[in-house]
Parts: sequence; structure tokens; C-alpha cells
Amino acid sequence: MQPIKIALAKGRLADLTIELLEQIGIIFTSYHKKSRKLMFLSDDSQFQLILVKATDVGTYVENGAADIGVAGKDTLLEAGSDVFELVDLGFGQCKFAVAGRPDYDLNQSHQLTVGTKYPKITKDYFNQQGKQVETIKLNGSVELAPLVGLSDVIVDIVETGTTLKENHLVELEEMMDISARLIVNKASFKTKDSRIRPVVEQVQAYVDTKGSVRS
Ligand code: PRP
Repeated sequence: MQPIKIALAKGRLADLTIELLEQIGIIFTSYHKKSRKLMFLSDDSQFQLILVKATDVGTYVENGAADIGVAGKDTLLEAGSDVFELVDLGFGQCKFAVAGRPDYDLNQSHQLTVGTKYPKITKDYFNQQGKQVETIKLNGSVELAPLVGLSDVIVDIVETGTTLKENHLVELEEMMDISARLIVNKASFKTKDSRIRPVVEQVQAYVDTKGSVRS
């Protein structure tokens, strides 16, 4: 029988998810943080990890290349992946915020220009408020944009707040809380129900009783 494939975002989310899977008896002794390998089989050969870019987890799961995935709510929202989102894992917690210079007034009449890695989330958020915004897609170091005049404000993830502080920016508006989510391919959830449902239920039970693994 083919193993159930689990797509994880390389890095901290993968490490925390592997810890969580161990807690429910799915062990990947062959996984090492520093390895450059991208696929790992569980000790019982029932599950196979595949390590992908965070922004691609939804794509792998939506297309059935992976049955299960774990990704941040931020990347799932931005990708708009058509998957079942079944468990809030409680780790990877942070929030989205609109940020800018301390004296910036968000209620100006002109159209806002927003620098962000998340143009879809940004447009959806402002459109819900009846505001049209222009987004400028960036791939990192977003905090620079208002400092060098590329945008009026930014929409980005705030975790500790250190990056904003060190760049003399402030949160102008909190948008939403985010955290890691367990997602499942829609077809797999039906066709591989007897193998996937117990994993989902055990993960949910673990999170319900223990809160989470380290956050
Ligand atoms: C993320 C995010 C912020 C920072 C927030 O960037 O885009 O810049 O972390 O974290 P903090 O509130 O704890 O400072 P990331 O580290 O992914 O780097 P990037 O700028 O290259 O995207």
C-alpha cells in the first residue's frame, strides 16, 4: 500500500509538526533537521513526509500530490487553496497587521499604496472595508517599503514586533490572528478515510488536551 503523503513547510513548522506526529505515534527516525533530503518514510512505512516551500504546501495538497499538509493560515489564505482545513495546531502563532510610520493616518482620502508579500489578503481586507488599494508585491524585507517611499504602508506578519520596532514602524491596525493548520486533500479524505481520519482525530485530541507542542 502507498504511504499517506504529508507535505510540510521546510524549517520550524516542519520540526514542530514532526514533534506533534511523534506524540501520536507516527515516528520519522530518518528525519534530521540538517539533511538536504526532501522525502522521509515513517518507521512503520505508513507515512511519507515531503518537504516543500511554505507557499507550495496548499498546491501539493490541493492537487493530491500530498494527502495531508501543514501550513500557516497566512499562506493558505494567500494561495486560496481548495482543501479541507481541519485542525488549528496552535503553533506558529502570529498576526497580520497594517503597519507604517507612527504618524501615518490610514484614513486619508487618497488611494493607499501597500507593500506586501500578501497582495490577495491585503486586497480582500481593504475591500471588505470598502477601500480600494494598490498593492506592490514584495518578496521580503517589506518594512523597507514605507521607509524609502515605495509604499504608504505595509501589510505583513508580526510575531515579536522586533522587526517593526527596529525599523521605526508601528502597527496601525491589527488584521487577524494566524497559526499553523492541518489541511487534507478533498478526494483523499473520502478515498483514504480509514487511514486519514484517525490521524486528524488524534491530532485534534492532542491539541485539545495538551494545547499544542511548543509554540
Ligand atoms: C517575517 C515578517 C516580518 C518578520 C516579523 O519576515 O515578514 O518581517 O518576520 O517578525 P517579528 O515581529 O518577530 O520581528 P521573515 O523573517 O520571514 O523575513 P523576510 O523579511 O525576508 O520575509
